Parts: sequence; C-alpha cells; structure tokens
Amino acid sequence: MNTLPFTFIVLNLVFFFFQISLAVDSITRSETMTDGRTLVSKEGSFELGFFSPGSSTNRYLGIWYKNIPVRAVVWVANRRNPINDSSGILIINGRGNILLVNRSKTVVWSTNSSKQAQNPVLQLLDSGNLVLRDEKDGNSENYLWQSFDYPSDTLLPDMKVGWDSKSGLNRRLSSWKNSDDPSPGSLVWGLELHNYPEAALWRGSAILYRAGPSNGIGVSGSPDLKTNPVFDFKIVNNADESYFVYTLKNKTVISRLTLNESHDVLRRETWIEAEKMWKTYATSPKDYCDVYGLCGAYGNCIINESPVCQCLKGFKPKSQEKWELMDWSQGCVHSEPLSCQDKHKHGFVKFVGLKVPDTTHSWLNESMNLKECRAKCLNNCSCMAYTNSDIRGGGSGCAMWFGDLIDIREFPVAGQVLYIRMPASEIERKEDPKVKIAVIILASVLVVSAMIFVGNYILRSRTKLKEEMERSGIIGQNDEGRDEDMELPFFDLSTITRATDDFSIDNKLGEGGFGPVYKGLLADGQQIAVKRLSMCSGQGVNEFKNEVLLIAKLQHRNLVKLLGCCIQGVEKMLVYEYMPNKSLDFFIFDQTRSRLLDWPRRFQIIGGIARGLLYLHQDSRLRIIHRDLKASNVLLDSDMNPKISDFGMARTFGGDQTEGNTNKVVGTYGYMAPEYAFDGQFSTKSDVFSFGILLLEIVSGKKNRGLSNQDHKHKLNLVAYAWRLWKEGRPLEVMDACLGDSDSQLSEVLRSIHISLLCVQQRPEDRPSMSSVVLMLGSESSLPQPKEPGFFIENDSYEPHSCSSKQESSTTNEISITLLEAR
Ligand SMILES: *[C@@H]1O[C@H](CO)[C@@H](O)[C@H](O)[C@H]1NC(C)=O
Ligand SMILES: *[C@@H]1O[C@H](CO)[C@@H](O)[C@H](O)[C@H]1NC(C)=O
Ligand SMILES: *[C@@H]1O[C@H](CO)[C@@H](O)[C@H](O)[C@H]1NC(C)=O
Ligand SMILES: *[C@@H]1O[C@H](CO)[C@@H](O)[C@H](O)[C@H]1NC(C)=O
Repeated sequence: MNTLPFTFIVLNLVFFFFQISLAVDSITRSETMTDGRTLVSKEGSFELGFFSPGSSTNRYLGIWYKNIPVRAVVWVANRRNPINDSSGILIINGRGNILLVNRSKTVVWSTNSSKQAQNPVLQLLDSGNLVLRDEKDGNSENYLWQSFDYPSDTLLPDMKVGWDSKSGLNRRLSSWKNSDDPSPGSLVWGLELHNYPEAALWRGSAILYRAGPSNGIGVSGSPDLKTNPVFDFKIVNNADESYFVYTLKNKTVISRLTLNESHDVLRRETWIEAEKMWKTYATSPKDYCDVYGLCGAYGNCIINESPVCQCLKGFKPKSQEKWELMDWSQGCVHSEPLSCQDKHKHGFVKFVGLKVPDTTHSWLNESMNLKECRAKCLNNCSCMAYTNSDIRGGGSGCAMWFGDLIDIREFPVAGQVLYIRMPASEIERKEDPKVKIAVIILASVLVVSAMIFVGNYILRSRTKLKEEMERSGIIGQNDEGRDEDMELPFFDLSTITRATDDFSIDNKLGEGGFGPVYKGLLADGQQIAVKRLSMCSGQGVNEFKNEVLLIAKLQHRNLVKLLGCCIQGVEKMLVYEYMPNKSLDFFIFDQTRSRLLDWPRRFQIIGGIARGLLYLHQDSRLRIIHRDLKASNVLLDSDMNPKISDFGMARTFGGDQTEGNTNKVVGTYGYMAPEYAFDGQFSTKSDVFSFGILLLEIVSGKKNRGLSNQDHKHKLNLVAYAWRLWKEGRPLEVMDACLGDSDSQLSEVLRSIHISLLCVQQRPEDRPSMSSVVLMLGSESSLPQPKEPGFFIENDSYEPHSCSSKQESSTTNEISITLLEAR
C-alpha cells in the first residue's frame, strides 16, 4: 500500500511539468527562473529565457520573438558576462532587484533600482519589454526597472532611443560583436544631445552617419523616413527628455530596427510570415553621400555628380590641389572673404534642397519666426546659417548654426532650405533686382524658343524614328506606350556614312560584343562613336531594341551617353559620345601605357566604375544588370574619367525584382560569376562578381584569364592567385609593379584588394551590394573577412559562339559570348 505517496509524487511531477509548459508571463519574489524555463508574454509575442547564440556554448539570458522560427534575440541581459554552463538562475532579491547568478553563486548580472519594492514582480510584456514592478502599483507604468531602458542591438516599437535628463539615462543601441557574441561591438546608434538633437551612427568614437535633426515632417538627413503605412515615428525634445520612438500602425506587423556590426548599418526589417523571412524595409547609411563629413566644410555631396563633392555656390576649395585629387577633407571656403565688422558688407543667400549641417554647434527656438531668426543670426558673427526648424506649412521655428557648416548633402526633392551667410558681393550677384529682371526676361525668351525648337525637333524625329522602327519591326504599329520613351535623336544613314568616311577601316575603333565600332565626325565638328550591329547575327534586333530603349533613359557621369540611333533597312546602329582615350584594357594591360595610370588615377577610375554600376543597379529609374562588365567595356574620356559602355545585354527589371534566370548566357569568360556561368542565374550580385574581377585587374595590371599564360608554374587565374597571396598574408604582392609604394596609397591598394575578394566570393549572398562597395571604397571602416572566391573553371562545353571570328587588338583575350545553355 505504498502507492499513495508514489502517486502523489507522480501527480506533483505532472503538475510541475504542466506548469512549465503552461506559459507564464511573470515571476514573483518567491520564485526563481532556471536555465530551461522560460517566461512567455501574455499573447505569446515574446519569450524570455536562457540561450546560446550562434555556435557559441555560452549561456545568456535574453528575450526573443516567440513565433519566429529562426531565433531572433531582441535583448540580452548579461551581454558582457556569459555563464559557461546551464547553471544560471534568475532571482528577485529583497531590495527588489533582479540578479542573475551562476553555479558558484556569483552575480553575473543585476539591475540597480533606487526604489525599494514590497512585492516585486518581474513580467514580460507583449511589447517585448521586461519590467519589474511593485504588485501594489498594479499595472501602472511606474516601473522599478525595464529592459527598454537598456537596449541591446534592437529597437522595438514603443522603445525610446535617447536621453532622459531626470534619470540621466542615455538609451543607445549597440551592435553585437558578432553572431556568436552579444557583447557590445563598436557600432552605436543614439541621439546626440545638442540644442537641436539628431540621431547618429558611430563606430567607436568616430561618427559614421548623421540622420539629421527633426524638421516636423521627418528627419533632415533621411528623406525616406516619412509618413508610411507601416509605422509612425517622432522625435520628442523637451526639458525632460530627448528621444526617438516609433509605433506600429498595425500591431500585428513584426518590425524591428537593428544594428549590424559587419555591414555598418542600421536596418529596418519586417517579418514576412508567408515567406518565413525578414524583408529589409530600409537601411542607413544609404549611399556614399551619407558618409559623415565626406565633402568637408561647406562641401555639398551630390550623389549623381562625379566627383560627388562640390563646393556650395559662392565657395571654393580650401586647397585646390587636394580637391582635385579627390581629397575633400579640407572642404571649402568663401570665394570672397567675409568681413563681419560691417553689417552692410554681408547677408544671407538662400540654398534649397539640402540636408542641414551637423547640429553640434547649433541653437534652437521653436517659437521664433524666420525674420527674427535672420535678425538674431545676423547679429552674431559666428552664426553661419539659419533656417526654419519646422518646415510644415509655411515653416516655423528658428535653428541657427555656428562655425563651419559640415556634412551637407543634396536631396533635390525632399531637401530643406538653408540661409547661409555670404559677403555682399555674392549677394548682389545673386539678388540685384535689375540683373534679376533682365535674367528672368532673357531666360524666359530662351526657354520659350528652346521649347519651340525642341518640340519641333522631337515631333519630327519621333515621327521619322517611329516610321523607321515600324518598318524594321522594332516596334509594332500601335505600340504607343513605347513611343513615349523614344525621345532620341535619329540619324540618317547618309549622315553616318559621311561621318565615318563610309565605315573606313581607318576609322574602326574596335569590335564590341555585337559588331564593329567606328569613329565618326559630324558636320558640326562633334566626334561620335558608331556601333554597327553585325548583320549576320539574328540576335541583333532584340539586343538593339533593348539597348536603344534602355540607354536613352540612363544618364550618369560614369555611363557612356547614347546620342542617338540609326535604322535603315537591315542596318542598325547606335551613336555614342566619342571617348578619346579608348578603353581601360588599352592602358592597364600594356606595359608602357600602364605607367600613365598611377594609383590615385586608378583609384578614381575604380570609384567611377562603382558609382556607374550602382546607378545601374539602384539609382536609375530602371534596375539594370549589366551582365558584361569588363575592362574593355570601360571607356575613358579626355580626363581619364571612366564610363561604362555596352548595356546591350542588360535586362530591365521592375522595381523589386533583383534576380532572374535565363537560358541564354551572355558575358565574357573570366568575368562571369559561377552561378551565372553554370546555372544562368544572374542578379546584381553577378555584376558585383565581375566588378571584383575588374577591380583586381586594375590593381594588378593583369588579366584574370591571361595570368596562367605568364605564370605556368601556378596555372592559376588572377583571382586564385590573389586569394592564395591573401591567405599567405602577402596580398600586396598582387599589385602592379609599376605602382609606387607610398604608405598612404598602400592602404588604399590593400583595401581595394580586400573589397575585390569580397566581391568574388562564391555565394552571391555573401557578396556586398554595389552601394556597400561604394561605401567601403570611401571609408576606412573595417571590412569583413572574405570567404573563398568562386572560381570560374573554364569548360570546353562553353564554346564561344561569336559572329565575327576576327577579334581586334585590345579585346583579343576576352570574347563576349552569347550561348544557349542546354537546360
Ligand atoms: C547601485 O546604485 C547605487 C546608487 O544609485 C550605488 O551606490 C551602488 O554602488 C550601485 N550598485 C551597483 C551594484 O552598481
Ligand atoms: C493587420 O495586418 C494583418 C496581417 O498582417 C491583417 O490581416 C489585418 O487586417 C491588419 N489590420 C488592420 C487594421 O489593417
Ligand atoms: C524664443 O523666442 C521667443 C519669441 O521671440 C522668446 O519670447 C523666447 O524668450 C525665446 N526663448 C529663448 C530660450 O531664447
Ligand atoms: C554668438 O553665439 C555664440 C554661440 O551661441 C555665443 O557663444 C556668443 O556669445 C554669441 N556672440 C554674441 C556677440 O552674441
């Protein structure tokens, strides 16, 4: 009859396990939480428990999303002090503090509340906030302690980033060291407590990116943070607090903001349940111009300009010499010196479309109007600029800047107005009413006549072009939709024949992927390059159609400009601007000519190509994948600025499509990403691969495919060779011998090699995007370690199928191929 106690024990055990599996959201003073147990918030959104991150065996107390299969930790208690076994116990002590202790009863983490509690309860809320409250306070938000005050790397909805001056708290996000180690890394996101506060991203003590102060609608430096269907946000700034917070419009959406150490970014993501994955909503910094202070004082960063840094109007580079070498750090100074003594000798000039400068030395009064603001700024010689602090409606409030204006960039649509102090001479130039009226009249006359002229011209050339295209089957008879895009000059065949001297062999520049290219001279003296599509190729019509329609829409300093086209019967030609300095391969692969391209020049070329490609991938209205980026497709203008050519094989995508599959592989041996060459999978990341190869070629002066010829011993291609040197710790040996070895340039060379290896990694998802590449080229932040590159092993089954068997000089080793894959 001993079964009774036994049954009792079993029942107790069952009850105990029942209790474990029954989700509880809180524990009281008499309870503890051991490793293995968890707290689950009431509606089951979040879970608190012990976990081991990544491949680590260390144990941490943390909070994660309950319903997301891939554990996404949003908060960690003992970030700096892991427990190395499963002995961790969470207790609430008599003073009302939470303690985390290990096997030897050492406290590895604790809270430190100044308030004493009678009946402390630790509760996990459905917001993801872990709070300690006193039972007697009921459900009031008068917490003794809350995890939201001590963020890790994740900002959840309703969580504040910023300052509480009463408690002295500064809530900031800090990245994890890496996915195995949640201890604070070097990235920090927080609010800078100036008179006119703004959020910023730091690496250690160096500021990487500034989001700009609040302007009533959003923040000045992040125009994409605006009214949206997913979340509301605000910056609160008063005597007690300064903080940023966002709230979800639909509480069922799962959205988070995280700091990622390895990518140097703040990322906003939303969980897509149907696809079981996080989708990026936005990232900051976004582009090269977001690099803090890139253009120096009074420099304006214009992302579509090349170079991106320009002095503001009325300013000139402080050091012309450095500025020309693209060292913008010294910034700009007033073209005419400012003398502050005499109030009549200066005033303010209005600039529009800007991100307002760094607010470290600023002043704010939200009840002043613009006129009072101007008067106050004028009276203080160190006040360099002012504007409305709130741009809603007609604008209100007053913000002023003292000292040099730093970190300005242009946002043509969403930018703000800024009034900058200028000497009288500049203002007269800008504001003299007589001149102004004369200018307006003259401008109107010009505009009207230009409109009449252009209108006529377009009408004529459109009709003619359309007729021609219809005749040659490029567009259908009723293809009105396309017609709208066809504002492209049309050249007569006779004009082209005359310009190229009847396609004389003397004028032949080379052989592109789809036919020969000729130099031409128009009657008005303009030099042109004419690409004559080879008549034998059936592929021509499609590619031509693509190229005409696409390139006409693309305008960037680093892309070759299409001037027009010519279609007559079977003849199809493209007319480009002429590039006097041929192509990049003409220089870098030639022993003598390569000396003409010193390192600063090469680095400039690398930057230009990167920006051109970024524009194709991201900034142009269309999303273009080049698919045949190589040295011979990078042309050089008279100043040796690089321009990418030959988008004939590019595919256009709708806005969000980034990847495609094709059974027609186009590209060039030695530049093709493995997934593209073998599986026909192309994406912006396959272009990044080609860019990586090109980058390595520019640094080394050697062809990726040519290397094995020179170096029979290794039988390696350039990538494999560079990778081996990298692994052996002597990456610089891949550098072109004709480049010097000054310390300053070696770090750039090393960085370029590092970036190129990141670009040629085997897995497309490991490769950086072009926007990251542009950022990496322009900053000195540390880079992730590259994984093994994807080698494209040459395979005889990939027979080049090219129409013309004779390849011209500089492109001999790289034959553009178009082939049908057996799939
Ligand atoms: C807790 O805070 C009090 C004062 O606020 C301080 O004296 C004490 O040293 C702190 N304890 C710990 C463990 O940080
Ligand atoms: C909130 O989002 C869910 C799906 O995410 C949707 O089913 C629901 O209708 C939305 N609610 C509102 C009020 O929009
Ligand atoms: C802000 O401006 C208002 C109106 O001009 C003025 O009354 C107020 O004193 C100013 N506040 C500060 C802090 O200067
Ligand atoms: C100008 O403004 C600066 C910064 O606010 C201040 O330190 C300085 O005293 C002011 N000078 C005058 C003459 O008001």
